[in-house]
Amino acid sequence: MRPWLWLSLLLLHEALRHVGGESAKGKRPKEPGENKIKPVNKKVKPKIPKLKEKESTDSSSKSQSIMTQVMDKGRFQKPAATLSLSAGQNIELRCKGNNIRWSYPSYLDTFKDSRLNIKQLDRYGQLILVNSTAADTGEYSCWLQLCHGDNCKKDESKTGSTYIFFTDKGELFVPTPNYFEIVYLHPDKPAVIPCRITIPSAKVTLHREFPAEEIKTDGTNTIYDMKKGFIYQHPTSDNKGVVYCRAESQGAPQISIKYQLLYVEVPTGPPSTTIMASSSKVEGGDNVNILCTVLGEPDIEVKFVWMYPGQESERPVTIQDSWRLINRGIGHTTRISRSVIVIEDFETNDAGSYVCVAQNSRGQTTVATSVELA
Ligand SMILES: *[C@@H]1O[C@H](CO)[C@@H](O)[C@H](O)[C@H]1NC(C)=O
Repeated sequence: MRPWLWLSLLLLHEALRHVGGESAKGKRPKEPGENKIKPVNKKVKPKIPKLKEKESTDSSSKSQSIMTQVMDKGRFQKPAATLSLSAGQNIELRCKGNNIRWSYPSYLDTFKDSRLNIKQLDRYGQLILVNSTAADTGEYSCWLQLCHGDNCKKDESKTGSTYIFFTDKGELFVPTPNYFEIVYLHPDKPAVIPCRITIPSAKVTLHREFPAEEIKTDGTNTIYDMKKGFIYQHPTSDNKGVVYCRAESQGAPQISIKYQLLYVEVPTGPPSTTIMASSSKVEGGDNVNILCTVLGEPDIEVKFVWMYPGQESERPVTIQDSWRLINRGIGHTTRISRSVIVIEDFETNDAGSYVCVAQNSRGQTTVATSVELA
């Protein structure tokens, strides 16, 4: 509904502006210069069909992109949603505004690449990438950063973006620094096998290594997105295993790196935590350790906080956190996160409850055990 309202208002505004122009014209005789002004009016008009078109295809962006591409001989053009350039070419993008932020393939950051140059000028931000390579393929976007004092936020109505393919016949897949990548399959979210291509017209297929077979896309649950890779919308444990992508574009086919798909069976939620003391009845002077353990998803970090009897008196203790991945059968991986608190030379004041709070992005769990003097 809203884009329509916008459009109607714009049309109304345009209509009123015209009526205004018409009546003003009627009040006085035509002057020689007036014919020169008229075409300016005409130039404004074509913006409306353009806007209409945009709204019918992309209802999320209410405003026009602030991005322009600098072409040869100082010409400018609005970049399309995707651009195809040959690797080796340079590109210059500009975004209107006095405080422009950029995002670009993270690869360029990782290597602190001297080929990328970003500058803020008075009225626009500028991004120049020279000697491009297939690895630079990806999303380039900009936005206006609004600041009040130290408080800054993105102006959602002043943005622009384009996805650039840097085509290279020798590199049909966007190269990555790894030979091998792990993709975690969670039952509750899409999994992406990130074999992206550099030539949009390349034909890409997904293959299982063992048994060797092509994995067919079905257009709904398994799809290929040129800007992301193969996507399993609802991964199941049947999808696990080693896979690779194959691309073909007028020449010998090429093969991507291998991806190991691991199915994550642990239910998502607050950490599943257990606590265990080396002993619950100890002699004075003994050393005691209490272990708090969380089994969880491989890519979910866990933070531990301890509460213990000697805490207020600032009794010295040692706390050590660690984690590792363990393999629980073919393709099933669990992250085991641990925190150990060590009480040396146990005394009366140390007797009581030891509480471990384990926290992940989905919540927290509290477990406790008591240690008493024998
Ligand atoms: C780009 O390539 C040219 C020619 O190979 C080279 O002279 C120049 O140093 C390169 N520029 C950067 C920033 O890498």
